[in-house]
Amino acid sequence: MTTTLMRLFAGETLATPPIWLMRQAGRYLPEYRETRARAGSFLDLCFNTELATEVTLQPIRRFGFDASILFSDILVVPHAMGQKVWFEEGEGPRLEQIETAEALRQRPLRFDLERLTAVIRTVERLRRELPSETTLIGFCGAPWTVASYMIAGKGTPDQAPARLVAYRDPEFLGVIIDQLVEASIVYLKAQLAAGAEVVQVFESFASALTPRGIERWSIEPIRRIVVGVKEAYPGAKVIVFARGAAGVLGQYAKVTGADGFGIDWGADLGHAVKQLPQTIVSQGNLDPLALVAGGDALEKGVQEMLMVARGRRHILNLGHGIVPQTPIAHVERMMSLVRDGAA
Ligand code: CP3
Repeated sequence: MTTTLMRLFAGETLATPPIWLMRQAGRYLPEYRETRARAGSFLDLCFNTELATEVTLQPIRRFGFDASILFSDILVVPHAMGQKVWFEEGEGPRLEQIETAEALRQRPLRFDLERLTAVIRTVERLRRELPSETTLIGFCGAPWTVASYMIAGKGTPDQAPARLVAYRDPEFLGVIIDQLVEASIVYLKAQLAAGAEVVQVFESFASALTPRGIERWSIEPIRRIVVGVKEAYPGAKVIVFARGAAGVLGQYAKVTGADGFGIDWGADLGHAVKQLPQTIVSQGNLDPLALVAGGDALEKGVQEMLMVARGRRHILNLGHGIVPQTPIAHVERMMSLVRDGAA
């Protein structure tokens, strides 16, 4: 038996559309908070195979989602390239900044997969421990999104530091992006070898690029990753989540060769999927705050997704990551709306 998402990708019609949630392991779950406290820092949790496996399984046990996404972070890749990465409690990621070609010359980066051995072990272990029908999803950040953290040294509201570098020294940005393309291919292939069947590429900051920037810094590098991964694993499926790019989804679909596309919550779902060929899987796009609010907002949002899922291959999901204040009862309600036809 193959897993639900793989059946959908193969073109099978499923009576109930598959569902999983971005950031489904996280602080809205008391059992996550408990394990997280035991692990120490956030990165300690990412690099502890036993505890990372445990937090990945927690939402599967509780809600029975169709897919399980490896617990890790997109910033483990710069870490494995030798850049210093840490998480400030209550604030978010911090990196030793690499802003100029000169800084990169002084501190050359080299991706070393061995620094991610614990993460790959987590994937192996998850495949053994997950129910046979649950799809295991691996992931990485898209080169532009990861590069924007590497350059700014932290999250910024509009990615101004990386956008300025793209104008002032595109050659330097190109070097970083090329290194990230190569690293991402190696990393995703290792996840697939360890038992992941689907990989998702997170382009969280597509919204910070101009149309020409999107082509050069997002679509083209992602295309190279898809080619590299599929050369080694032709059966692997790739989902691209490009936040803020729903208007150019057709272009992503035509160029990248990905099998599925996530749609962010700011887009009209019905309109967004029209840009995709019928054979391409769509995913999304409930507003994470509709899940926090519950009630009518949740019922209507789920209805809209179910309607789209009746007409095409669609995976129900949020339009961005679940937020810590999400009531567990609302996630349970969403599952019964989808699974028991309570809608
Ligand atoms: O989806 C999952 O459950 C898998 C795990 C996962 C995490 N981060 C765990 C996490 C995935 C796929 C990510 C991706 C990620 N990380 C992205 C792309 C997706 C997106 O949200 O746009 C980005 C931009 C990051 C970088 C990152 N990691 C930020 C900005 C933060 C801080 C924000 C926050 O919510 O605190 C993180 C930390 C992080 N990554 C947490 C989790 C569960 C919370 C940290 C904690 O437990 O203290």
